[in-house]
Order: sequence, then structure tokens, then C-alpha cells
Amino acid sequence: MTLHTGHELLQRARSGGYGIGAFNTDNLEITLAIIEAAEETRSPVMLAITAGALKYTRERIAAIALAEARNASVPVAVHLDHGDSFERCLWCLRNGFTSVMIDMSHADEATNVRETRRVVDAARAVGISVEAEIGRLVELGAEVIISEENATLTTVAEASRFAEASGCDTLAIAVGTAHGPNKGRGRPEINHQRIAEIAAAVDIPLVMHGASSIPQDLVARFLASGGELEGAVGIHDDDIRQAIANGMSKVNVGTDLRIASSTAIRELLAEKPETTDLRKILAPAEAEMKRVIVEKMGLLGSNGHADD
Ligand code: 13P
Repeated sequence: MTLHTGHELLQRARSGGYGIGAFNTDNLEITLAIIEAAEETRSPVMLAITAGALKYTRERIAAIALAEARNASVPVAVHLDHGDSFERCLWCLRNGFTSVMIDMSHADEATNVRETRRVVDAARAVGISVEAEIGRLVELGAEVIISEENATLTTVAEASRFAEASGCDTLAIAVGTAHGPNKGRGRPEINHQRIAEIAAAVDIPLVMHGASSIPQDLVARFLASGGELEGAVGIHDDDIRQAIANGMSKVNVGTDLRIASSTAIRELLAEKPETTDLRKILAPAEAEMKRVIVEKMGLLGSNGHADD
């Protein structure tokens, strides 16, 4: 099916009224779990690679993702997630990525527009699409840390002004989700009205970051196998469905795969403490991630759309 640009997949999703999963990958096993889940459900999919994943793998993850995407029997985009600089985006453009995100959402709006515009100009010259972000998500985890006080929901005016001025192809907005395993207390509140208003005002696909659901059955297994995950809460399935119905086209998921894989590894090692073969440790992790991704693709409604 070969590689597709992010924009191509997301435009189709936008007009078809379904969501496309962008799953974070850091290694071969995660990549295989994503691709095989997509093939099993006949879903288009995006492989999302962060700067941290590039660093961790000494950039090898790019070649792994691109090879798997080219061999897949479904449409796949290889995407830079949270690109932190113009130079990083250029590196990805030169190395075959079909979608890049430039994330200057922490900067003032003028800087965000200016830096996004530079990436858009470069990417457009080689036919690759660009995601940018306006608004600030809560981030209580490792890499980017934004507290609840510093998080701000995207306004309609901001979104239309920014989309127009930056020329980005897809737009990530802050509507109440958060990165990492702690997305709030109780059921995190998603501003559905805001999503609908922005979707009506902005003529490009919208992106929901921090969309892991943190399945409580997995959390229970993680805790039972000795893990610690204080107050882990995710986005309710009904909120994901509603967000897609109101205009979200790309749904970003990373933490669910981390919880799934580490739970499976904990259980395997508790059950078979004599295991030393890394393949035997990682195979159940890959299977658990694939199970979670297959379920997620059903929730997003991307099933069957590979063959549109
Ligand atoms: P989660 O932390 O909910 O998995 O979100 C991942 C994400 O938004 C990556 O860009």
C-alpha cells in the first residue's frame, strides 16, 4: 500500500467521519504491534516517532518504521511527533518521513506562527504535510512538563487565526486531554462544544493529543504485578467517540502501549522468573500492545478504511 502523507490519510478520515490512530513507537516490537493490528483491522495508521525515540534508537527507529510502512498491506504515514525544532523537522523530511509536527505551542503565538511557517514552506516543497499545535495540554510525565495552571484550552479565534497564518495542514488543539497516565481526577472533562466550534471554523483535520484511555483492567494487572501508578486515569471511550463525531481526525496514543507492554513483562517475569531470553520477555508485551491497538482501532472507527 506504500507510504502516504499524514494529510492524505487525515483528509479521508475527516470526510469519512472516523479517526486515525497515531501510535508512538520506540522500537521494532511496538512498530510490529501497530502494523499488524492495522493489517488485521484493515485500518490506515500513523507511526508516531518523538525526538526522544530518535535519540534512544540513535535514529534507527526511522529506518525500521519506514521499512515496515513500505511493506504494510494498509496505508501508513511515518510521522514526527512533537518536533522540537526546524532542524529536527528538516532531518525527518530528508529521511523519508511523510508527516512532521512542529510543536512550538509553548512559545508565544507570533513565534509559533513563524516557526511553523518555516517548516510548512520546507515541507510543502517536498510534498509532506505538517501538524502544528496551538493551546497547551497538561503534561505531568517525563519529557515536556506543563502544570495544570499553565495549561490553556485552545480558543476558536486562536485556532482559526493560527491555522490561517501558519499554513499548517493539520492542527492539534487543547480541549481537556493531557499527556501521560494522569489525565485528571475522576473522568477528565473534554470540551466537546469547543471541538465542534473549532472544527466548524477551521478547514483542516484536527488532532487530539493525550488520548490514551488508561484501561483500568490493565492498570489493575500492573498494580497486582508490583507496579506503581498512582491515580492513573485516561480519556473515556465515549469522549473519544464524541470527539471524532465532532471533528477530531487524528487520535494520539502512547501511554496505553507503555502500560500494556510493561504489564505483560511484569507478569511474564513473575510467572517465569528464570526467563533470560529477551524474545520471550518481549513477545507477550508485543501481543498485549497489539490487542490494545486492535481495540482502539475499533473505537476510532478506522476498521475497514484501509481499502477505501
Ligand atoms: P498519551 O499520553 O495519552 O498516550 O498521548 C500520546 C500523545 O499525545 C503523543 O503525542
